[in-house]
Amino acid sequence: MLAYLDHHATTPCDPAVVEAMAPWWSAQFANPASRLYRPALEAAAAVERAAATLRRCLAADAEAQVVFSSGATEANNLALKGLAEAALNTGSPRRRFVSVVTEHHAVLDVLRYLERHGFGLTLLPVDGQGRLDPTALAAALAPEAGGPVLAVSVMAANNEIGTIAPLAQLAPLVHGAGALLHVDAAQAVGHIPLEMDALGIDLLSLSAHKLYGPKGIGALVIGPGIRVAPQLHGGGQQQGLRAGTLPVPLIVGLAAALELAMADRERRALHLGALRDQLWSGLQALGGIKLNGPPPGPERLPHNLNVMAAGVDGTRLHQTLRRQIAISSGSACSQGSPSPVLAALGRTRAEAAATLRFGLGRGTTNAEIELAIEAVAAALAQQRG
Ligand SMILES: Cc1ncc(COP(=O)(O)O)c(C=O)c1O
Repeated sequence: MLAYLDHHATTPCDPAVVEAMAPWWSAQFANPASRLYRPALEAAAAVERAAATLRRCLAADAEAQVVFSSGATEANNLALKGLAEAALNTGSPRRRFVSVVTEHHAVLDVLRYLERHGFGLTLLPVDGQGRLDPTALAAALAPEAGGPVLAVSVMAANNEIGTIAPLAQLAPLVHGAGALLHVDAAQAVGHIPLEMDALGIDLLSLSAHKLYGPKGIGALVIGPGIRVAPQLHGGGQQQGLRAGTLPVPLIVGLAAALELAMADRERRALHLGALRDQLWSGLQALGGIKLNGPPPGPERLPHNLNVMAAGVDGTRLHQTLRRQIAISSGSACSQGSPSPVLAALGRTRAEAAATLRFGLGRGTTNAEIELAIEAVAAALAQQRG
């Protein structure tokens, strides 16, 4: 049996979501942009219903715009490049972004791209547990720190170490400086409470495959009155903000997955939090295991655990474990260098390689947790002799 404990990488599409999508592949296949006949109008109505579901589940403003995208990567690109281009178009003096060193590449690489094209970029450090200090953000927002800030991009929850950002504390600082708050919520939506309006989030990116929906669909939710320049030009779909024929089945799937995830979120968080704690105590008992990120509790995603096995060869460790458990390491990145997250926590390349990221999910069982503990125990014993 291979225990799948890599739910931060992706989640299985829930059978109920597959069922909700089913009619929209073949029976109701019309293009929602073909407005002259009934099946197309029905497809357009399904897309509108999905957008309304997103606004409701995210507690967004009734006027917020939902732009469907291929996932969170594209949503982040649209948010950040779109804001930058809109600032250029309107002659805004705001030409600087502020973000955090532990962001996902889908934010960091976009911001570095914009930096190469003349925008300022301030990346904030984190503490040893991956936490951002709001006073560091306040300092970075001062115009003297490099010019007026256009937007701050902070992830709601970290994809490696599960750190939850104190968005309620950050938003007033961002708005006080006249900037906008973009939140990459790919790992948070459907997992922790996230109310866009109440938290003061101006733009929010999400992805269906992280919340038991299909791959290849996500969205950027844009608060009312915020100008974002389109990054995909063509047929003028989605109010001209993202051209391309709308993938109706995937959009219906995203909305269905979100509704399901909201319905069992609290129960799932309690259940997975307990399983995660069981995993953590089991691993701690093996000795020489250190936690990466904040302690299990309110500052950490309930279904996340990230640990480092001291003094062992990470490559060998993962080679042994991969036969029994599907997890990720701390060096999973295209260049093979330690992830920016673990590097920011001060971990060396060897420590990052010996890092185990566990992401529990809706289907995770007690037996799988026990199997994971046993597998790590055996792999460590093999190396420690
Ligand atoms: C925090 C975060 N942002 C963005 C992404 C990219 O999402 P997608 O696969 O939908 O493009 C991921 C996926 O790993 C993520 O964890």
